[in-house]
Amino acid sequence: MSIGIFDSGIGGLTVFKEITKEFPDADIYYLGDTARVPYGNKSKETVIRYSVEAANYLKSFGIDALIVACNTASSYAIDRLRNALDIPVIGVVEPGVEVAIRFTKNGKVGVIGTSATIKSGSYKKLLEKNDMKVYQKPCPLFVPLVEEGIVEGQIAELVVKEYLDGLVDEGIDTLILGCTHYPLLKKTIKKLYPQLMIVDSSQAIAEFLHREKIQFNGTGIRKIYITDESESFERFKTVLIGDIPLEKIDLSKLCTL
Ligand code: DGL
Repeated sequence: MSIGIFDSGIGGLTVFKEITKEFPDADIYYLGDTARVPYGNKSKETVIRYSVEAANYLKSFGIDALIVACNTASSYAIDRLRNALDIPVIGVVEPGVEVAIRFTKNGKVGVIGTSATIKSGSYKKLLEKNDMKVYQKPCPLFVPLVEEGIVEGQIAELVVKEYLDGLVDEGIDTLILGCTHYPLLKKTIKKLYPQLMIVDSSQAIAEFLHREKIQFNGTGIRKIYITDESESFERFKTVLIGDIPLEKIDLSKLCTL
């Protein structure tokens, strides 16, 4: 079984890393849409179009399942993708919510993400359906911080506090990192708020796949495609998953407009 993973850029590599660790035999095709990142400040229509284009590109490799490793795309485009594709489409929202419900003791869950993810209310709706009290906050500065590699130290801590102090004051005991870039700030978040249970999409997805008993009997193929050169992608790829080569594809191979 082969699997396609896509994200707007580097963040989904946290999912790629976890899946390769948990399912070493899986054949994995990753697409980072580095030419059009960020998705998190785009309109719903645009995010849907980009997501369908990325999914169709990955489909050309004959993938048997698609992981939408981007919270913004999962929030806005998951229904459209499930309707358009005849393979299982797994987003990050449901697995993250399941883990948060399991973690929380007081039913107060914080959700942070891009402006689009928070505006979509994707996490909030599902959590509230499960009787959780939800406190949300868009954290638009987190993505550029991560892209610049500023994930620890004074500046990272100041920005994290600016966004999270308010949520923590509301008494949340669990925090969903509703953006694939944010796990890279996990160390700093944990240092500042050691009492918080932190839900990270990449671990939530891996747990979900194990629970659903999805089998990956491939030969361990690893392919990473990007739609434009990106220094930060290159840097994070090396730090997160090592020497797998990158292949740049022309955006015109994806675009439908
Ligand atoms: N990958 C996006 C997400 O998880 C964050 C980066 C972006 O805005 O595209 O929401």
